[in-house]
Amino acid sequence: MDKFVINGGIPLHGEVTISGAKNAAVALVAATILCDEPCVLENVPEISDITICMKILKSMGAEIRLINRNTVYFDTRGITVPRVPYELARSMRASTYFLGTLLGRFHEAYVAMPGGCDLGDRPIDQHLKAFRCLGASDDIENGEVHCTAERLIGSQIYFDFNTVGGTINAIMASVKAKGLTIIENAAKEPHIVDLANFLNSMGADIRGAGTDVIKVRGVDYLKGITYGIIPDQIEAGTYMVAAAATKGDVLIKNIIPKHLESITAKLRKVGVTVIENDESVRVFIDGPLMKTSLKTMPHPGFPTDMQPQFSTLLTLAEGTSIVTDDIFDNRFRYVSELRRMGADISVDGTVAVIQGTGELKGAPVVATDLRAGAAMIIAGLAAKGTTEIENIHYIERGYECIDQKLKQLGADIKRVHISEISASQLSG
Ligand code: EPU
Repeated sequence: MDKFVINGGIPLHGEVTISGAKNAAVALVAATILCDEPCVLENVPEISDITICMKILKSMGAEIRLINRNTVYFDTRGITVPRVPYELARSMRASTYFLGTLLGRFHEAYVAMPGGCDLGDRPIDQHLKAFRCLGASDDIENGEVHCTAERLIGSQIYFDFNTVGGTINAIMASVKAKGLTIIENAAKEPHIVDLANFLNSMGADIRGAGTDVIKVRGVDYLKGITYGIIPDQIEAGTYMVAAAATKGDVLIKNIIPKHLESITAKLRKVGVTVIENDESVRVFIDGPLMKTSLKTMPHPGFPTDMQPQFSTLLTLAEGTSIVTDDIFDNRFRYVSELRRMGADISVDGTVAVIQGTGELKGAPVVATDLRAGAAMIIAGLAAKGTTEIENIHYIERGYECIDQKLKQLGADIKRVHISEISASQLSG
């Protein structure tokens, strides 16, 4: 097991290149199952969630080859049994996407109830509702969800509330269904548009992705293509906040500024300068950080996946900020860790009140989930003294080479084997 050790207080300076988007990549890798020929994905992030997706495909009989570090060849024609190995499915939320893709191709799917970050209860009732609308039935057997359909027939799917995963699964299951599917109250996140673009390039007929009504006319065949995954808006936002929290000056490259609008707007509101270029943003601060109120919302609102990082920034601001995040039940678990570093935050349900103290102090902390881990890194970079972060496997689910990228920006961050620390402490 490794931990990150950060000596904080160094402003970040320089350039960082953003990797492919995790939440697009997990969907697109699963979607290769729908492709009737081999295909190639570019800008695939080297993160553990993608390693698991690829293990799932390989274990079912797909051929996968690395063309280079971020370019991957997929041939899923060898898959014959529509069942994801139980332990692999349980280790990741995005394994639910295999329900949609296997159902879309085989009209049958067995996938264990998903795991992933613990953000509270994460049901999949809306995913199942979408499959049922298309004619599938489902059951839970030995901890596995079993979906089956004689035929999938285009239909109207109305989501009771905004669901990213539900929308993605509805697209996956309907792309080869017979006739027209209309998905209403669809989620609008950039990765949904990316999935639709990927499938459309193969020959699918999906219109309206990025709006709340998506129309999918089923096709019989999807051809092999080469496709580049969009840059990760949350990774970009994390470096933007890290630049501001350390009072640095960072150029964040390989991004789509439009995907970052809500994050950029909030950073400007608290006194951070953000200069947008075509495919990069420069972030720096030359005045005090100011308080703000923030409520997370589905896209194009402020993303819940940026809430822990931005709340950490607000602990360094002047005054009292209020942050509301009710997308998931429990996205404030990191607060008790930030308190170890001197943050003054009280949480009541889905609302946090942050009294800016202007500074944080290094401490031993744990990453309680992926974005909470990113928040701990930002806190450690901004804090006086040394911060040690455990459970970094969460962070590695979604951030490619985060320690190396931060080192290039001048951060003092080391990855240390926990056994090495104990040994050196014993010998010292
Ligand atoms: N929900 C249900 N029933 C469903 C589906 C969702 O009750 O059938 C609830 C969820 O429990 C949650 C809310 O609806 O309270 C929204 O969930 P959504 O389906 O939109 O989220 P998701 O698909 O499970 C994806 C991302 C998350 C991100 C959310 C919201 C992936 C693999 N995961 O999750 O990303 O927070 O959308 O934008 O795309 C992360 O990257 O750190 C992460 C957690």
